Amino acid sequence: MNKQELYNHLNTTLKALTEGERHPLPNLANAAALFWELLQDINWAGFYVMDGEGLVLGPFQGKTACIRIALDKGVCGAAAREDKIQRVADVHAFPGHIACDSASNSEIVLPLHDETGRVVGVMDIDSPIFDRFDEGDEAGLTRAALLLSKACDWSRLVSLS
Ligand code: SME
Repeated sequence: MNKQELYNHLNTTLKALTEGERHPLPNLANAAALFWELLQDINWAGFYVMDGEGLVLGPFQGKTACIRIALDKGVCGAAAREDKIQRVADVHAFPGHIACDSASNSEIVLPLHDETGRVVGVMDIDSPIFDRFDEGDEAGLTRAALLLSKACDWSRLVSLS
């Protein structure tokens, strides 16, 4: 399976999994499990959602992670604060990177949005391989982030200040 086929499969499955359910909790939990099952060479896949002034840990697969991330901290904070995808080839070179799992060497973080366009959280995937995520991964995961953004009623989980 090439990368395009992989992400077609991932996004078709994600669409089917979230159809008929608007609560973010099961949708994010299943999305994390799906990433974990389908993506090679990753050591963490999951979500942080907005809670007041910062991010709080959501559903994930991988080792236990830091619970709260301020918006001025880490790759996740940058993605949420700037509302911009962060594709980081070497996390050790990223100012303020938070090393939850010392095995992480590269990562991609994508913002999630509610129906008004506000950032409600981020999707974070980490890898022990440097430069693991290319444009193809970014394109495939952008579709996943959009799908999840639209599938969920964020008011059931997220409190925005
Ligand atoms: N890498 C993130 C922290 C979260 S963990 O990797 C699960 C960051 O620097 O934002």
